Amino acid sequence: MTKPDMYAVFGHPIKHSQSPQIHSLFAQQTKQNLSYTAVDVPPEQFESKLRDFIEKGGKGLNCTLPLKELAYQACLSQSERAMRAKAVNTIIADDQGKLYGDNTDGLGLIRDLTVNHKLQLAGQRILILGAGGATRGILAPLLEADPDEIVIANRTPAKAKTLSEEFASLGKIRACGLSQLNHSAFNLIINATPASLKGDTLDLSANLLAQGGICYDLAYAKEPTTFVQWGVQQGAYLSLDGIGMLVEQAAEAFHLWRGIRPDTQPILKMMRG
Ligand code: ATR
Repeated sequence: MTKPDMYAVFGHPIKHSQSPQIHSLFAQQTKQNLSYTAVDVPPEQFESKLRDFIEKGGKGLNCTLPLKELAYQACLSQSERAMRAKAVNTIIADDQGKLYGDNTDGLGLIRDLTVNHKLQLAGQRILILGAGGATRGILAPLLEADPDEIVIANRTPAKAKTLSEEFASLGKIRACGLSQLNHSAFNLIINATPASLKGDTLDLSANLLAQGGICYDLAYAKEPTTFVQWGVQQGAYLSLDGIGMLVEQAAEAFHLWRGIRPDTQPILKMMRG
């Protein structure tokens, strides 16, 4: 058998990454000869570890927190969606080792919402909590789905305002402080802060969620995150964590690398246990 093509995910920390398992299931399913490993890479070692990986023949790389902005800078060219996000989660190396950066996070979220959960985004009122890199990565694809409005609420209101101004040409979007949020019947509330992973609650007011509304945490953990629990308490129709988005962004990366799209349904079932 020929030597497997080499892929990896870099992150810090990386111990709990599910990506090696997901990509090895994709590879089995699609009969691709590849290896995929998780490597702990602190930001200060990113450049040298990336160079080593490519010199050893690495074909592609996923980058996760806190390396997505560094990955963006390290690529010679980037996709339009990566440029919008100013972050790269998927690197493709060509035969000369030249790096192209893409960002599959936003599409992963949209596919999980609209394909896996059959949700309609057009005409909906969407609230995004947080105004960091995770929000930046999902704003363009969400706006392209033609919601009625997107509100970004952030602990530091100025950061939300800057983001809303940057994306205003793509659709109806406004910003406010987390503490300024009041009863506003959102159909979809997305947590894009890392608060729930740390076990913090966001101190959100009641009545933010419309009847039949959905809560979606971009983060995921073995147990329901504090935000997923909050959604359940608010009577959400669905209160989801980000495992579906993780699998879908991985499928899109796999497609970019291998030219073949895995069927995510059996993998999602396995990951959800
Ligand atoms: P990233 O850029 O990787 O998405 P981040 O910059 O650490 O992650 O944080 C993302 C967002 O989560 C930020 O908007 C941050 O709010 P601030 O702009 O006020 O820093 C928000 N955030 C992080 N921890 C939070 C917490 N405990 N409560 C509320 N918001 C929080």
